[in-house]
Amino acid sequence: MDIDSLKLVYFSPTRTTQEVVENIAEGMQVDGVEQYNFTTPEMETLEYEEVTSGLAIIGSPVYGGRLPLEAVHRFQRLRANDIPVVVVVVYGNREYEDALLELKNLAEELGFKPVAGGAFIGEHSFSSNDIPIAKGRPDLADVKKAQEFGKKIRGLLYSINSISNLSPLQLPGNFPYKEWRESSQAAPFTDETLCTKCGICVTVCPTGSITLNDAVQTDPDTCIRCCACIKYCPPQALYFSDPRMKRIAEWLYTNCSERKEPELYISSKV
Ligand SMILES: Cc1cc2nc3c(=O)[nH]c(=O)nc-3n(C[C@H](O)[C@H](O)[C@H](O)COP(=O)(O)O)c2cc1C
Repeated sequence: MDIDSLKLVYFSPTRTTQEVVENIAEGMQVDGVEQYNFTTPEMETLEYEEVTSGLAIIGSPVYGGRLPLEAVHRFQRLRANDIPVVVVVVYGNREYEDALLELKNLAEELGFKPVAGGAFIGEHSFSSNDIPIAKGRPDLADVKKAQEFGKKIRGLLYSINSISNLSPLQLPGNFPYKEWRESSQAAPFTDETLCTKCGICVTVCPTGSITLNDAVQTDPDTCIRCCACIKYCPPQALYFSDPRMKRIAEWLYTNCSERKEPELYISSKV
């Protein structure tokens, strides 16, 4: 079957998921790539969007072994009509647990036909120079794997007449899914002596939780602790003052430093 267009759908506050999705797309070499970046808060109110042709890649980070609720809510604005999809999760070198299965099941509910799935590793949102966790990932080796994965999926799709020629995609994970547990209710704190009030934190926050008036303020009730504001703050004025967040990062550093590799799954021909 021919792939005439490619839709890249993702939620990616610190952009590792976006990078992986774009590299899978690169390997597919399809003209007509459309981006559906669901990271920005405006996407909460997007009109329902019908996907009626081509191939889609849907990518999400893993939060607590699951999909972030915001990603699920935003992806639910899509409707598809038996469109083949590649489901991708990106995790910070701990575990992805039920997230990939959850994304596959969600994609099916929306009307997509999952043909391949991948769990890739991205630098952990809680990683810093002092406490590095999966620092620099996806790296060159990950990028190469993502591109080769895209190429392989393209080869598979071009070798069949219809997606009904493919076996159902089998992915690891459990249902019922792992219960969602919040890591902490902390929100990043702004060091006023460093803050230049440039407003970058406001623009990168996926939940619109940051306001900038006389000072930068973050609403802990809507903050999802994605760390985009911390990562993209030029003078590094934002940080978690809550000691529990540091303890989580230290635990991850101690227990999840051994390099994990992408795990890739692809349907076979029947
Ligand atoms: C609240 C929260 C929970 C997370 N939970 C997990 C997890 O369960 N397992 C894991 O390996 N990484 C976890 N991570 C790390 C992210 O999955 C990882 O950094 C990912 O690359 C972020 O994607 P993004 O760059 O597209 O935002 C978590 C990150 C955050 C912010």
